[in-house]
Amino acid sequence: MSAASEATNQEAIRHKAVVTLGHALFNDETLSNPTGQSCASCHAQAAGWTFPNSRVNEQSGLVPGANTDRLSRRRPPSLGYLALAPATAPVYSEAIGTYAGGYFYDGRAASLDDQVAGPLLGSDEMNNTREGVVRAVAEGPHAALFERAFGISCDRLTVDEAFDKIKTAIVAFECSPTFAPFSSKFDAYLRGTAALTPIELAGLQLFTGSRTGRPGGAAVKSAGCATCHTLDEVNEQHLFSSSSFHNIGVPGNPAASYHRQTNAVANPSRLNIARDTFIDFGLGDVLYRRLSLPPGNVGSGSDGRGDFLRINGKFKTPTLRNVDARPTPDFVKSYGHNGYFKSLEQLVHFYNTRNLTTARGEVINFTERDPYARLQGQPIWPPPEIADPTTLENPTGIRGLLGNLGLTSTDEANLVAFLRTLSDQRPASQQSTEDIQQDE
Ligand code: HEC
Ligand code: HEC
Repeated sequence: MSAASEATNQEAIRHKAVVTLGHALFNDETLSNPTGQSCASCHAQAAGWTFPNSRVNEQSGLVPGANTDRLSRRRPPSLGYLALAPATAPVYSEAIGTYAGGYFYDGRAASLDDQVAGPLLGSDEMNNTREGVVRAVAEGPHAALFERAFGISCDRLTVDEAFDKIKTAIVAFECSPTFAPFSSKFDAYLRGTAALTPIELAGLQLFTGSRTGRPGGAAVKSAGCATCHTLDEVNEQHLFSSSSFHNIGVPGNPAASYHRQTNAVANPSRLNIARDTFIDFGLGDVLYRRLSLPPGNVGSGSDGRGDFLRINGKFKTPTLRNVDARPTPDFVKSYGHNGYFKSLEQLVHFYNTRNLTTARGEVINFTERDPYARLQGQPIWPPPEIADPTTLENPTGIRGLLGNLGLTSTDEANLVAFLRTLSDQRPASQQSTEDIQQDE
């Protein structure tokens, strides 16, 4: 072996050790305070890297932290294929007329490296400190893996140095093929090794508006999904997200347990003083704070200009890969940033009918001062959490666009069937060893 390939080989071995450590730490329940919660507790592979408790998903959609009376305001999104997403803070793009980039539903982390400190230290997630995490690794079951990965024992490093390496290992695992196996039926279809059923193919055509299902095919009836849940035109490594921010008008979720997080003693840092009137501004929670303004630039401390960046209610477009992945057929997943939706059928029906009422042909126009004032029928959906027409997609409800897609019930079912082809197939070996890989 030449010196150069020897070096590459060494590098590959070292990288593999780092990923192995990251895998162990991702499942390590000693990293939380109190112990008992790991990344996998909220991002389980069998549930498409989301929350593995069907009952909680169904009842609330939001999940408790290590400290079980502290709740996050949002649902755990999938962590699949995040390495394909652009690592940048949200930036405004003229071309798409909105911001794109960043991690979390609101883009507040500019890189996975920034992101990972969030759950480890967040009071409503794993609730630990940097010292606490480093001590848990130095004294825990993976100290030897740490030394093998980085060539130095964890307890010989400063807290900052060790914490950085712990983040590096978890991120290396998040960027490993485990999270991006491209093993779904849809990927097999693209490689020519599997066929989609006519129903799935019809769903793909609706999703893309393209007869071939690939970008640039002849135009067919479209549900417009691929404008935001984009396909990659260059090498077919599809993320199904442009990482762009939009307000699709998800209703508030009154069942979200966060609304009851009103105990100042139990929750000193993330008290929900607004109770049921709590509004999640999404991107508007982050970008206004960065200008030293309150979330959404509303209420006390605002500069009176309101939502001048036009960002309130915008959330990052999630990937749709593994959106249907679930451990058993009757397992309930929640969808949307606040877990409002409980099935893909419901969510697709929402996209199709957000602006409609039970009166045939009636369309809710969110640019009116009171859009609900003179309606003949009952609105099909509760009002958007943020109904401001300056951020809401298709506020007037133009037919053929989000909120009034004009799809038949067969079209809706076809779209759902297509979304189901995006679940990665896991090798049987991997399924049986799930979540017990701590000891490898
Ligand atoms: C208590 C549940 C919980 C735990 C434990 C948890 N997360 Fe999360 N995770 C969430 C929630 C909720 C969000 C969305 C928060 C938001 O957008 O504001 C999230 C978001 C993320 C994202 C952003 C994904 C995206 O599309 O931008 C990543 C990456 C992530 N978590 C990784 C991790 C890692 C790594 C760990 C372990 C160190 C972890 N999470 C532990 C609940 C959890
Ligand atoms: C204007 C951009 C846009 C369009 C068009 C769009 N989406 Fe979305 N989609 C989003 C955003 C943003 C979210 C997250 C919204 C939130 O949580 O508030 C989302 C969420 C979803 C989710 C939930 C995923 C999860 O993990 O919670 C599914 C499923 C979905 N979209 C499917 C579709 C389908 C099917 C279509 C076409 C009918 C479509 N989307 C059209 C932007 C878009």
